Amino acid sequence: MKKVGISVLALTALMILFMGFGPTSEMPGPDAAAIWEYITKESPYKEWGFWNDHKDILSGNSPHGPFHRVYVNEVLLKADGAPVPYGSIQVKESFDSNKKPTALTVMYKIEGFNPEGGDWFWARYTLEGKAGPAGKVQGCIGCHAVKAGNDYILVHDLK
Ligand code: HEC
Repeated sequence: MKKVGISVLALTALMILFMGFGPTSEMPGPDAAAIWEYITKESPYKEWGFWNDHKDILSGNSPHGPFHRVYVNEVLLKADGAPVPYGSIQVKESFDSNKKPTALTVMYKIEGFNPEGGDWFWARYTLEGKAGPAGKVQGCIGCHAVKAGNDYILVHDLK
């Protein structure tokens, strides 16, 4: 009985430690509005980096529009191959043919969210932050799954 009490205590302490100091401590859950808050206020995506082989505005393929720019958060930039760590985020800005921004699409890796789909949370937002399809979006997954071995990431090859 005593042993159980101690291990519960140890577990609780560990959980507090992990929640308080863990790398994903302030990351949002699978919630489109909370994710928007995070990528625009708490950790503004415009301050993130780029894949070294996919920087700035580049021409792209449908359905994402003629031009795009993909921002990559620090957790993901440090990834060492596939699968990438939880907490990884990519934000893609889509542009029209005049390079005017039209929308944002986001991939955010959340532990246990959707193991069959690489645990990615998918979302499309208007420029004002209104979420369109979000969550386990089969359309997004179906297309990106051509590179499931590259953790569903299309613009950059993880080694
Ligand atoms: C018909 C195929 C297709 C569908 C559907 C699709 N994508 Fe993509 N996605 C692409 C391609 C191709 C790229 C590479 C960039 C480009 O060419 O525009 C890409 C790139 C991205 C990127 C940049 C990171 C990367 O390398 O994968 C994000 C983020 C993204 N898509 C999110 C989404 C979301 C969210 C949805 C659903 C709302 C979605 N995509 C639906 C084809 C698709």
